[in-house]
Amino acid sequence: MKTFTLPGTDIVAPNVVLGLMRIQDKTDDEVRTLVRTARDAGITFLDHADVYGSSLHGCERRFAEAMRLTPSERAELVLQTKCGIVPDGPYFDFSYEHIVESVHGSLEALGTDYLDILLLHRPDALVEPDEVARAFDELADAGKVRAFGVSNHTPGQIELLRRSVRQPLVANQLQLSVTHASLVAQGVAANMVGLDQSISRDVGVLDYCRLNDITVQAWSPFQAGFFTGPFLGSPEYAELDAVIDRLAARYDVPPIAIATAWITRHPAGMQVVLGTTTPERVTGAALGSDIPLTRAEWYEMFRAAGHTVP
Ligand SMILES: NC(=O)c1ccc[n+]([C@@H]2O[C@H](COP(=O)([O-])OP(=O)(O)OC[C@H]3O[C@@H](n4cnc5c(N)ncnc54)[C@H](OP(=O)(O)O)[C@@H]3O)[C@@H](O)[C@H]2O)c1
Repeated sequence: MKTFTLPGTDIVAPNVVLGLMRIQDKTDDEVRTLVRTARDAGITFLDHADVYGSSLHGCERRFAEAMRLTPSERAELVLQTKCGIVPDGPYFDFSYEHIVESVHGSLEALGTDYLDILLLHRPDALVEPDEVARAFDELADAGKVRAFGVSNHTPGQIELLRRSVRQPLVANQLQLSVTHASLVAQGVAANMVGLDQSISRDVGVLDYCRLNDITVQAWSPFQAGFFTGPFLGSPEYAELDAVIDRLAARYDVPPIAIATAWITRHPAGMQVVLGTTTPERVTGAALGSDIPLTRAEWYEMFRAAGHTVP
């Protein structure tokens, strides 16, 4: 497993991490096997959110109840969670009160004294950056949160926060898979007329994050679209899967490792946030941490996924 020191922190992080959005209905044994399988593959970094699960903090609590971590086991893990979504609405809330209350709920549900990383989940149109800064200062000063970041944010939204927030914003979690790749694909087709791919939806966020040492975390790395099911094994993506299968045979790994490697191979140094609850898939994806796909191979997957190389 490839690891790196997450810029802006002293956290040593793997470039493949495990998301726990889908564990609400899993038994203790299933959660333990999933997390231990990940840990055995070097995945010591876990992604949560207050809203994952059937009720607020549901998956965080499911994780903690199943794992019953000792203090030393807790210390070996990087626990990241998110706040800012109010599911009963839905709407977004970056107020001081909401952020602080959500963190206290996450600490209680996770059974820990501190979060390693807290992300603001989705941009709040009514954000008051000074309020966010006040919440972050209080949480950092109390030792309750070690580092902060965002998710699904544009460069302008991050700049706005950075004018008030004292701590570095170390991560931006964004949807990215080889098929759902606008943040990579737009730049490849820049300056083209009449091509949907050339429309800037993400306002240059990938280059912005690279320029500012903000680590991109790729969520839904195997979903074809927005929760539309995986492209792996889908008849709709037969051409892409054929390329992936050929590369999997070439590198002697399962196809899921090649789908992972398409993201880890990008020089931005991104993290891949797995969402599978199947231990074998976690082990297979972890093998994609450091596969040196050639440019020709990387672009072949990109084209087979339907993107244009003008
Ligand atoms: N920041 C955000 O806005 C945001 C949004 C969504 C998610 N996330 C984070 O990102 C993580 C990953 O999201 P995701 O779960 O949508 O990502 P994913 O890893 O692309 O998808 C996993 C889902 O696909 C299923 N699947 C079926 N066949 C598969 C195959 N061959 N290979 C891999 N998976 C297959 C899995 O089922 P099995 O479980 O049965 O294997 C699971 O339900 C979440 O856990 C969460 O931490 C963040």
